[in-house]
Amino acid sequence: MPQSPVTVIAIDGPTASGKGTVAQGVAARLGFHYLDSGALYRLTALSALRKGVPLDREPELAALAREMDCSFSGGGIFLGQEEVGQAIRAEQVGNAASRIAILPALREALVGLQLGFRRPPGLVADGRDMGTMIFPDAILKVFLTASAAARAERRYKQLIEKGFSANMDDLLKDLTERDARDASRTVAPLKAAPDARLLDTSHMTAEQAVEQILKWYGALE
Ligand code: CDP
Repeated sequence: MPQSPVTVIAIDGPTASGKGTVAQGVAARLGFHYLDSGALYRLTALSALRKGVPLDREPELAALAREMDCSFSGGGIFLGQEEVGQAIRAEQVGNAASRIAILPALREALVGLQLGFRRPPGLVADGRDMGTMIFPDAILKVFLTASAAARAERRYKQLIEKGFSANMDDLLKDLTERDARDASRTVAPLKAAPDARLLDTSHMTAEQAVEQILKWYGALE
């Protein structure tokens, strides 16, 4: 008998839209696995920065992504034996991730890793192209947005909490540049899937966004 595919909820959206917090909240409430696809781009970027691989060398970067020994366990993110959950959140790494994410061979190299997260009882996948490219058959697709000002403020708070220094003007500039790069790249540009539901969280708490997504999900069953 053919098995029905494992349920996926795809949550996509621009930088600092709160996707991570919201997607993890939805996953926790449903007891589903969670994929932070951005972390894979950040891990590749961190490896490249450490190894001194230039950020435009597509074949080397794709090889690095394919051979990367990364794992997610007990809430930690590991490169080999080293916990790098904090290191990959640095803005420098985020900017490098956004730059290498335009390279088709690198994106292709990360596909298998992402598909591997689809395990019972279900998956909440967070990224830019979860609903459009990686899990086009997701049962629910959400495109999470927030104004640039709200996102810069959230990113500022997040960085300060993690002990990084941050400057609002620089953040707003970085964020706008990153949006433009994500939206204009030829492969898997950031855009809502035609069947995605839009959720503007500018004036919502993360909890309210989680509730809305659970309500949509509950209405499907
Ligand atoms: O924290 P932020 O939302 O800026 O980024 P992230 O989700 O941690 O992802 C880091 C970078 O990887 C983003 O700026 C995107 O350019 C890229 N990315 C992507 O291209 N596709 C994904 N599915 C996830 C992230």
